[in-house]
Amino acid sequence: MSKQILVLPGDGIGPEIIKEAVAVLVAVNKKHNLGLELVDGLIGGAAIDQHGVPYPDETHAKAMNADAVLLGAVGGPKWDALDTAIRPEKGLLAIRSKLKLFGNLRPAILYPQLASASSLKADIVSGLDLLIVRELTGGIYFGEPRGIRTLENGEREGYNTYKYSESEIRRIAVVAFEAAMKRNKKLCSVDKANVLEATVLWREIVEEVAKDYPEVELSHMYVDNAAMQLVRAPKQFDVMVTGNMFGDILSDCAAMLTGSIGMLPSASLDQNGKGMYEPIHGSAPDIMNQNKANPLATILSVSMMLRYSFGFAEVADEIELAVSKVLDKNIRTLDIQSEGCTIVGTKEMGAAVLAELV
Ligand code: NAD
Ligand code: IPM
Ligand code: MN
Repeated sequence: MSKQILVLPGDGIGPEIIKEAVAVLVAVNKKHNLGLELVDGLIGGAAIDQHGVPYPDETHAKAMNADAVLLGAVGGPKWDALDTAIRPEKGLLAIRSKLKLFGNLRPAILYPQLASASSLKADIVSGLDLLIVRELTGGIYFGEPRGIRTLENGEREGYNTYKYSESEIRRIAVVAFEAAMKRNKKLCSVDKANVLEATVLWREIVEEVAKDYPEVELSHMYVDNAAMQLVRAPKQFDVMVTGNMFGDILSDCAAMLTGSIGMLPSASLDQNGKGMYEPIHGSAPDIMNQNKANPLATILSVSMMLRYSFGFAEVADEIELAVSKVLDKNIRTLDIQSEGCTIVGTKEMGAAVLAELV
């Protein structure tokens, strides 16, 4: 039976990087007869321009029908003046929430060829392989009440609510412990339990779940320290689990350890393993339409899709190996350039990966 993949290019560099990733997907589909069928859809600013909303019902219907979703990125200056409730970013939050994709896996793996592209010293990052498990459908991103209100003194006040229920914490903790069991059995839970009650509960529930995973060595760290430790000695971490906002920030930070934010893929999974796959970076309006964006994070997101949604682990390995071979040839986009490399554009990088696959 064929499997359907909904492709949502989005905005900015989204369509450029998705084009290269789709070419990889189409190539492996053909080569290995995977039975994958691709469908297109609109999200973000592209959807606002055509339908007036960032996550049209039609896109939602397609997403519900699909076995997996591949997304580029959303947002850009064109839509920045819109109310937050109808901005492109709201479309991304809506698809994550409506599909219940609470488990966000953001692996930060350093390809050895890129050790010198990292802004950290090579010995600090060499061999780096960490996994950030970010809660994706709760916390301050979704907490009510929220808004901007006028106080009695006439001054305006912006407010958001940081909250997590026990069940929300428990299910993401289970994802993290399960991931740790498949790796080095070491988990660091990141919170701000010295200040925020919501994360006092977070810590308590993570401790409770830990009882079911006696083999996993669990530690807790405050988020400010975690940010510092990530750049001081990132290899102390194996799996990190944290809430929505902390995970957003820490994963951008971890991305730089691998050379560039253009290298980090992600999987966002629901309770049953249905997933959406996207690079962790944004729509990079500063480099859009210039053939400068690194497509590797999106290509590696395709690899995560094949591994997690469809169980095609060998094909996923093949894509990752192809990326590695391209890096062996010293082919680099601007963001991961180093001395003596050949700098190429988005299209050429995509073509180079493709050439290793066919
Ligand atoms: P960004 O991640 O888009 O860009 C940050 C910096 O990284 C920029 O200098 C950009 O050129 C660079 N960069 C990002 N991806 C790259 C790639 N593949 N190759 C080379 N360089 C790359 O973050 P931002 O500038 O804060 O946000 C821009 C827009 O993207 C905003 O509208 C924001 O809301 C949106 N955004 C969307 C997502 C998403 O769709 N998942 C994620 C983050 C930001
Ligand atoms: C990400 C992005 C999104 C987030 C934005 C665009 C809503 O930064 O995927 O990391 O904050 O989750
Ligand atoms: Mn982010």
